[in-house]
Amino acid sequence: MNATRKALAAGLAALSLLAVSACGSDSESGSTDEVEVFTWWAEGSEKAGLDALVKVFDEQHPDLKFVNGAVAGGAGSDAKNVLQSRLQNGEPPATFQAHAGAELTDYINAGQIEDLTDLYKEKGWDKQFPEGLLDRLKQDGGIYSVPSNIHRANMLWANPAVLKKAGIEANKSYDSMDAWIADLEKIKAKGIIPLSVATDWTQVNLLETVLLADLGAEGYNGLWDGSTDWGGSEVKTALEHYSKLLSLTNTDRQGLDWPDATQLVIDGDAAFNVMGDWAEAAFQEQKKTFGTDYTAVPVPGTDGVFDFLADSFTKPVDGPNPKGTEAWLDTIASDEGQVAFNKAKGSIPASTTADTSSFGEYQQTAIKSWGEDEIVSSLAHGAATSVNWLTDITSAVAKFGSNNDVAEFQKGLVEAAEDNKPE
Ligand code: GAL
Repeated sequence: MNATRKALAAGLAALSLLAVSACGSDSESGSTDEVEVFTWWAEGSEKAGLDALVKVFDEQHPDLKFVNGAVAGGAGSDAKNVLQSRLQNGEPPATFQAHAGAELTDYINAGQIEDLTDLYKEKGWDKQFPEGLLDRLKQDGGIYSVPSNIHRANMLWANPAVLKKAGIEANKSYDSMDAWIADLEKIKAKGIIPLSVATDWTQVNLLETVLLADLGAEGYNGLWDGSTDWGGSEVKTALEHYSKLLSLTNTDRQGLDWPDATQLVIDGDAAFNVMGDWAEAAFQEQKKTFGTDYTAVPVPGTDGVFDFLADSFTKPVDGPNPKGTEAWLDTIASDEGQVAFNKAKGSIPASTTADTSSFGEYQQTAIKSWGEDEIVSSLAHGAATSVNWLTDITSAVAKFGSNNDVAEFQKGLVEAAEDNKPE
């Protein structure tokens, strides 16, 4: 989305909020049938995922009315700011989307969301989600949100027909960044965009996968707990690879969001796109066949590692409709909700009780990897760091995108770690 469209979207979101508070709800008397759900699933295949969830909600809770509080912008790039000002102004929605992990901890520490432990016990949710996932929703023993899905961020999407033009076999696996970069150069020589990328956060998503490839899971994890040196030579190698990769991307990247970057691969205008598996929903929405029209393999050098993130839904403190919030959380946790949403979203269910036999071919690979692979936390999607640390890393990435100075980039990342690393 370009700047004008972004401003327009933010304006529209603000207007729709006014409309929401002006009509229908009866929050002053404490009773309302409206359930405002705040996400960034505002457009395209992400909206289709949300719609699938809303359909289940409507069936399960015909007495309630879903109100769409979505603010456009991939990875919550605009939504998170809008949400923060609403929370600070005492105008929370009935529920909002938050990533499991460090991002959720921010809301917990700020006292903005409620402890759901009793609800978990009452509903038996504590038995249906995997322990490792529940740990990322906890603070001091309390559980603070209900997970809707699990996404994998280290996926490489490719168009086999485009690769063929450059004499590269489809589904080729690369065990290192260097091997992959050699093929990207071949694609560039054919006048085709080797790798598509979009605005800042998608560059952060690309960077995290390069760090993962070059440092390995242990070294990557160490970036977040202080045991890996951001100023070291391994990070430097990764940043040099990242710099090379960026030079092999589309030049109009700043004006695009993820659907545009993925679309370049779908349309055969680019060979590869590194993107979380919400991209699967975009391929499926356009009736593309996995393995024929497109392929998806782990980013070179990250095979056997699942770069994890999960969306979850919260119950804000002093929310406008606590019963409505609980009803939404009920739908999120239900097998029907988990299956309908994840099938449409490209992700896999967070709940172990959901039946995934009808899921597509790509999603079956994700289910297998989730069960077998080493799991690490995504940076770009709130699992690894606080919102502040991610914001500082994103600034360094954005700066690097315009000055291409690796030494300064690394210095910026070292400073971001010093300023934000947990005690
Ligand atoms: C992630 C989110 C996904 C997907 C993606 C692109 O942060 O967890 O569900 O929406 O952003 O917007």
